[in-house]
Amino acid sequence: MKSVKVKPAHGKLGVMCVGLGGVASTFIVGTLMARKGLAVPVGAFSQLGKMRVGRGAEKQYKAVGEIIPLADLNDVVFGAWDVFTDNAYESALYCKVLKPEDIEPVRDELERIKPMKACFDKDFAQNLLNPEYGRTPDPVWAMPADTRWNYAQNLRKDIQDFRKNNGCDRVIVFWIASTESYVPRNEQVHGSLAQFEQALKNDDRVHIAPSMVYAYAALQEGCPFIMGAPNVCVDIPAMFELSKQKNVPIIGKDFKSGQTMMKSALAPTFRTRLLGVNGWFSTNILGNRDGAVIDYPTNFETKRVSKSSSLEWILDQDVYPQLYSDVYHKVKINFYPPRNDNKESWDNIDIFGWMGYPMQIKVNFLCRDSILAAPICLDLMLFADVALRAGLAGVQEWLSFYVKKPMTYDDGIPCHDLFMEFAMLKNKIRELGGYEPDQELD
Ligand SMILES: NC(=O)c1ccc[n+]([C@@H]2O[C@H](COP(=O)([O-])OP(=O)(O)OC[C@H]3O[C@@H](n4cnc5c(N)ncnc54)[C@H](O)[C@@H]3O)[C@@H](O)[C@H]2O)c1
Repeated sequence: MKSVKVKPAHGKLGVMCVGLGGVASTFIVGTLMARKGLAVPVGAFSQLGKMRVGRGAEKQYKAVGEIIPLADLNDVVFGAWDVFTDNAYESALYCKVLKPEDIEPVRDELERIKPMKACFDKDFAQNLLNPEYGRTPDPVWAMPADTRWNYAQNLRKDIQDFRKNNGCDRVIVFWIASTESYVPRNEQVHGSLAQFEQALKNDDRVHIAPSMVYAYAALQEGCPFIMGAPNVCVDIPAMFELSKQKNVPIIGKDFKSGQTMMKSALAPTFRTRLLGVNGWFSTNILGNRDGAVIDYPTNFETKRVSKSSSLEWILDQDVYPQLYSDVYHKVKINFYPPRNDNKESWDNIDIFGWMGYPMQIKVNFLCRDSILAAPICLDLMLFADVALRAGLAGVQEWLSFYVKKPMTYDDGIPCHDLFMEFAMLKNKIRELGGYEPDQELD
């Protein structure tokens, strides 16, 4: 059975990163090191994962790349935009996620990745320019102040030039830049492509965040767009329409890397065992530039909305009112520079069991933010490219596994359960590889 055909991955795959900070530089260094055989891409399902295809006596375990045609890492070419002028080597050193000895072997390639001028509006990332939060860009490496519409045309030109200069067969645009101030969906602006284009021309700086301008430019150029931050961005009807019209995938939003990954794995355990939950308090300390940006209230709001959405879905109070009708869920992020990228999170979970007797669970995750996000970037990059070659347009729900707040069409209910999401991912890979999707135990 072969329902969807994935075209082979011929030629170069351009990956244009919006933002060249901690996550982007860690992802790029690791990818370049992995393709030289100098590092193991731990955490990347596309590289290390094996899964079952076929059932019963027919079953076999195969690597993902044996089931569907993935781009060869040697064919990947990176580009970037940022408001800082640091090239990828300088950025990786500055962010201090990786040790210099893990960066040096790919120094030449990193130095060639120089950011292009950003489409930037300080109102959407105030703390980036606030010296109280550390180094500020000098100069601010941004396109001259212009209308949203002209920014979009400039970005389209950047993509065209990058594609041509690097001989790329396909290009992906990947937002790995800062969390923007919260932009709630506005039907008058975001409700249709025509309304959105009119708002771009009217230079609507309130409802059109810079990330939306990148996304618009990418989709117009036939490039898949991945939203790694919680920005609303492509999660609007105008972008659904454009992505369908251009036959390109859109993916998002917000990498599910640390605390929310744990939440989306633990909460299904309580629901499966029918244990009640009274409260879930999640707090974090984080000291990198992302933490600095999120320390501004309207930027934190974007993250809060994203981090809060998973529990309500998994612990469904309509199905189990006795167990989940009164869950107090609180999420906090505290900017604490000494920890830099090494985020620490604490979860206190108040659960109850037999006859309502209370119990507590404490989770203390001493993680590394960009180390957890980098393999997600690699998988999303490769799977977005597969989706493009398979002609899968619009929202890619099968990639919900990787994001905190999966996008769905208007009334669709997103899946937040890590294990269901993994089943969805594997079934799509089966389907794209010409095998039957199934529910058989692995
Ligand atoms: N690390 C994780 O585990 C994780 C998880 C989920 C989401 N994220 C998201 O990933 C994103 C990147 O995180 P990070 O730690 O690399 O942050 P970072 O601050 O180190 O890097 C972001 C970069 O984006 C640049 N930038 C901001 N606005 C821009 C614009 N309009 N155009 C071009 N560049 C712009 C900044 O100058 C900065 O260099 C953040 O939005 C973060 O919330 C990270």
